[in-house]
Amino acid sequence: MNKTSLKGKIVIVGAGNVGSTIAYTILMNNLVSEIVIIDVNKEKAKGEALDMNHGLAYFKQISVRSGEYDECADADIIIITAGIARKPGQTRIELAKINISIAKDITKNIMAYAKNPIILVVSNPVDILTYIIQKESGLPASRVIGSGTTLDTARLRYLLSAHCDIDVRNVHAYVIGEHGDSEVAVWSRANIAGKPFDEFCDDCPKKCHAVNRQQILEDTITSGAEIIRLKGATYYGIGMAATRIVAAIINDEKAVLTVSSVLGGEYNVSDVALSLPCVVDSEGIERYINIRMSDKEIHDFQQSSEKIKQAIEEINA
Ligand SMILES: NC(=O)c1ccc[n+]([C@@H]2O[C@H](COP(=O)([O-])OP(=O)(O)OC[C@H]3O[C@@H](n4cnc5c(N)ncnc54)[C@H](O)[C@@H]3O)[C@@H](O)[C@H]2O)c1
Repeated sequence: MNKTSLKGKIVIVGAGNVGSTIAYTILMNNLVSEIVIIDVNKEKAKGEALDMNHGLAYFKQISVRSGEYDECADADIIIITAGIARKPGQTRIELAKINISIAKDITKNIMAYAKNPIILVVSNPVDILTYIIQKESGLPASRVIGSGTTLDTARLRYLLSAHCDIDVRNVHAYVIGEHGDSEVAVWSRANIAGKPFDEFCDDCPKKCHAVNRQQILEDTITSGAEIIRLKGATYYGIGMAATRIVAAIINDEKAVLTVSSVLGGEYNVSDVALSLPCVVDSEGIERYINIRMSDKEIHDFQQSSEKIKQAIEEINA
């Protein structure tokens, strides 16, 4: 057998749209030598793995298989994408309660085998689940990472790139806080080629004079719902965002990514999981980049934390 020289093993829990897309994106990016997919629906996990195996003849020899929780014992990263979609008439809190109980079960199963894993949480509500899974697993906060606002940051940068007609990779802007309605765009630090947006707009040939920040943030927040309206689910964007986080960990990159984690006093916020720009390497979150923000941005970030704390209280009530 033509063995790959790659190392590394990823376990993905949940073989739905998101889990299987993450598996495929990690595979196509050549990041690891083993990908294992676990799902309560064993046939689905088996089918997804088999489908990917049927393309390996045109790619390379990577092991993609379905499996059980014992596969977590030597996994570098375990990605949680399992969940139940919202049913008509069901409230967000009711859905959160169900997904929390699923997440707790999955965490117990993982920790029965894994010694000191890095867990990447993607299932929603991602900030609440990151918090619950960190507490349930007893792992350090640096090793339980929520995909958080990595997707929202990419969406904001895409929208700014399209508006300003500049390569998205040269548009620098962060979304922090909740992955959801209370998220915060850090406009005070957003820039193109080091130029803050006010300055950039002054001599931009488009002459629209100012980016409509409120509209762009609103479009960022609602773009997930818009994709669901158009095609029923979102999975490519999150597949690419999760793969970016996996690459940062597997390659020990020290990449700055807006992932979610249980905070310990950053901007006076603690004991809640929220996204901030973090340095991500092979140990998980190495540190936070405490960027200087405006008073309003700090206030909005703190409000976002209050919203999540209140939701956790409601769920526990
Ligand atoms: N964080 C983000 O930015 C982001 C983006 C998109 C989707 N999501 C979330 O990802 C999650 C998955 O979305 P999807 O579209 O893949 O859903 P899906 O319904 O297609 O797949 C969910 C899978 O989870 C499995 N599952 C359910 N309970 C399980 C358990 N106890 N153990 C193992 N597997 C279990 C189901 O069998 C199913 O295959 C949802 O919570 C969704 O909201 C997050």
